[in-house]
Amino acid sequence: MSETRLGWPEWQALEAHARAVRQLHLRRLFEEDPGRFERLSFRFDDLLLDLSKNLVTDETLRLLLRLAERADVPGWIARMFAGERINHTEGRAVLHVALRNRSGRPIRVDGEDVMPRVEAVLARMRAFSEAVRTGAWRGHTGRRITDVVNLGIGGSDLGPRMVCRALRPWGGPLRVHFVANVDGADLADTLAGLDPERTLFIVASKSFTTQETLTNARSARAWLLERLADEAAVARHFVAVSTHREAVAAFGIDPANMFEFWDWVGGRFSLWSAIGLPIALYVGMDRFEALLAGAHEMDEHFRTAPLGANLPVLLALVGVWYVDFLGAETQAVLPYDQRLERLPAYLQQAEMESNGKSVDRAGRRVGWHTCPVVWGEPGTNGQHAFFQLLHQGTRLVPCDFLLAAEGGDPYPEHHRILVANALAQAEALMRGRTEAEARAELEAAGLSGEALERLLPHKVFPGNRPSTFILYRRLDPRTLGRLIALYEHKIFVQGVIWDVNAFDQWGVELGKQLASAILPELEGGATGAHDASTVGLMQHWRNLVGG
Ligand code: F6P
Repeated sequence: MSETRLGWPEWQALEAHARAVRQLHLRRLFEEDPGRFERLSFRFDDLLLDLSKNLVTDETLRLLLRLAERADVPGWIARMFAGERINHTEGRAVLHVALRNRSGRPIRVDGEDVMPRVEAVLARMRAFSEAVRTGAWRGHTGRRITDVVNLGIGGSDLGPRMVCRALRPWGGPLRVHFVANVDGADLADTLAGLDPERTLFIVASKSFTTQETLTNARSARAWLLERLADEAAVARHFVAVSTHREAVAAFGIDPANMFEFWDWVGGRFSLWSAIGLPIALYVGMDRFEALLAGAHEMDEHFRTAPLGANLPVLLALVGVWYVDFLGAETQAVLPYDQRLERLPAYLQQAEMESNGKSVDRAGRRVGWHTCPVVWGEPGTNGQHAFFQLLHQGTRLVPCDFLLAAEGGDPYPEHHRILVANALAQAEALMRGRTEAEARAELEAAGLSGEALERLLPHKVFPGNRPSTFILYRRLDPRTLGRLIALYEHKIFVQGVIWDVNAFDQWGVELGKQLASAILPELEGGATGAHDASTVGLMQHWRNLVGG
């Protein structure tokens, strides 16, 4: 087991400090310190990152920043931007920042500047998306394309799906749909309303070997050919996004209809690449490029700002603080922004596939905790679901609130109510309601005696429940780019602190292998060696389907 971090004086100082912080209460910290918000909130242009409602003091941040220095966060940032193969288990560089590099500076992998290739694909995406959007690109029978279906899963689905949802005000004239699940219901429900003559499929798969995506692609092709009855139709209705030209050709998609990206783009960091094609088709290439520009601005901030004023670094460190020193097991993401409703799902992959690891970069079991369980829902819906636990449950759940100052919809009154709720929830979590306050309220409501005493403990809110508040002017392509990049770099920094490789995902392999072994058995092949539960479930399945 690796105990490296545990032996560092910087780590031990945080452990000792955590014992002191456990005695504090946020409400008192605010009462005693009028400068708390000013000192513990950080700005990047209009984006405000308020850390002051976290269980931290100035000393906590000082100690966390020392930890970041000790883990060589600045060195790792430099290595990433320099194109080093920091994804060492796969021997790959990690350069999603190159996909949105607007600086004109070269970014090199093994001495080769990758920017010309990035620019070339962006140019092809522009030409193609404009052709489809304007109707210059037609379907096989000469009809205009009205619907685009992205067939992809994980990083080839979650990013573009989340972004298209977030940018709906800019969407159209094309409709964009996403099919990820191998459950045929996903494809069937999507195709049900579509006209094959007017539908364009994007098969999005970095590896072009993913079972779910290829299964959906085969069925989609069959659906198309069943109706258009001409193999030549595939060329007008199927394009691919992949790193594997041969696999795309083998599948039957003309490589001329393939948009390339590269092995130095991790799947969960790929929405900035041609994987973002559905975004370009939906909102237009100018908006897609505004998204890239926003992300690039955050990249530049991350690359150049000192650690103590660096938003992704600070966000990461506060997360580490909860997981490793205060015992939090989960992290809630609460966008008070309906159009960010897919952000929690997107971050589940980004964070948990990146840092859900238990061996360090040298392959030793880590002696500390790594990624928390990430979950969440938009506010105010969550308030009527799980907020009870956040306010009065037994667990420490750090929360991220995200909120736009301006709503951008035709209901200004709604937006003020939304803002009030977001602010109120964060305040309530922090302040709580003391027994004296609860008593006074009950008395004011006319209760007294035994009835009051019986109800009183249920009306007390302990408070001291931490949250980070991210407030921005409005959710537009540029801001969205900044927000996503903020979280991407947070994840990177946490991986450095936890000493894990945030860019591989070996943990998804075993289940895939076992599924490949079980499938032929379900199709009548010989039964392999399984545990009694798997055998029993298979048998019951056979009984139910009459096999
Ligand atoms: O879930 C494992 C994974 O490899 C993800 O990392 C990736 O985003 C997803 O599968 C899809 O992979 P591909 O783009 O190669 O189809």
